Amino acid sequence: MKGIILAGGNGTRLQPLTFAGSKQLAPVYDKPMIYYPLSVLMLAGIQDILVITRSTDLPVFRALLNDGRQLGLNIGYAVQDEPRGIADAFRVGADHIRGEQCALILGDNLFHGANLPTLLRRSALKLSGCVLFGHEVADPQRFGVAEIDRRGRLVSIEEKPRNPRSNLAIPGMYFFDTQVSDISGVLKPSARGELEITDVLRAYLEQGTAELVWLGRGVTWLDTGTHESLLEAGTFVRDTQRRQGIRLGCVEEVAMYMGYIDPDDCHALGSEMDRSPYGQYVMERARSFGMGLPPTVLSEEL
Ligand code: TTP
Repeated sequence: MKGIILAGGNGTRLQPLTFAGSKQLAPVYDKPMIYYPLSVLMLAGIQDILVITRSTDLPVFRALLNDGRQLGLNIGYAVQDEPRGIADAFRVGADHIRGEQCALILGDNLFHGANLPTLLRRSALKLSGCVLFGHEVADPQRFGVAEIDRRGRLVSIEEKPRNPRSNLAIPGMYFFDTQVSDISGVLKPSARGELEITDVLRAYLEQGTAELVWLGRGVTWLDTGTHESLLEAGTFVRDTQRRQGIRLGCVEEVAMYMGYIDPDDCHALGSEMDRSPYGQYVMERARSFGMGLPPTVLSEEL
C-alpha cells in the first residue's frame, strides 16, 4: 500500500507563523509536525510515501526527510501550489499511486493511542473499498461528520453540518482501494472551488463499500490548524511524554520497531542529535531494544 501525506495549504489561520514556512514543519513540542502523520503511516506498515507540499516548502521537507532511506522508507515529493482540495492529492499523486491501494493522511493531524497500530494495520489488510475513521468530538459542526445507523454502519457524511446527526467527526486519515484514482479523476470542484474528500467518500458510500472504523476512547486525535490547537497539541505531547517517559511521533523509534531499520542504525540516527533529549531518547531506545522493555510504539501487541 502506498501512503500520501498532504502537507500543502496556506495555513492562513496560523499567520504570521506560516508566512515564511509550512505549517507542517512547525514544532509540536519537540519535533516537526510532519513526524506525527509520518509515524502513523509507518505504523500502518507503509514504507512508500509521497509528501505533497508547496514548491517553496519542498526543499525544506527534503532537507528534513531526505529520500527516507535513513528510516527504511522511500519518500518522494510532489508539488501542490494552490490548495485545490484534499481530493486533489490523488491527482497530484497519480504517478505515485499507480493503481495501488493508498492511505492518505493530512500533514497537520496528530493521532495517539495504544490500539492505533492494530486498527491501522487491520484496516490496511482487509481493505475493500475505503476506510474512514470516526472520532467523538464535542463540536462536530467544525468537521466532516458521519451519520451511523443503530448497528454502527455508516449512513451519510456531511461536511461541517449546522445540525450534526452525530458527534462522530471524520479525522484526516483514510484508506482507499485501487478505485480512488478513477473516482477522484471525475470529481468536480465544490461550491468553494475545492475537490472535496467527502465527495470521494460518498462515492464509496453509494457503492456500499465505505467502512467506518471507530477510533474509540483509547485514541486521541488532535488537529493543529489554529494557534490554540497547535499549543494544545504541544502541551498534550509534552505532558504525555513527561508522564510516561516515552516519545510520541518518534520516527526513528517507529522505524526500528517496525523492522525498517536495525537498532544500530537507530542508535546512529540518535547520536547525530546527542545534545538534544530527543536524540538521547532515540539512542536509549536503540540500546534497550530486545532487552525486555516494552516496545512502546506497539504496546497493544504485548
Ligand atoms: P486546511 O486546514 O483546510 O487548510 P490549511 O492548512 O491551508 O489552513 P487554513 O485553513 O488556516 O488556511 O487543510 C488541512 C490539511 O490539509 C493541512 O495539512 C493542509 C492540507 N491541504 C493541502 O495540502 N492541500 C489542500 O488543497 C487542502 C484543502 C488542504
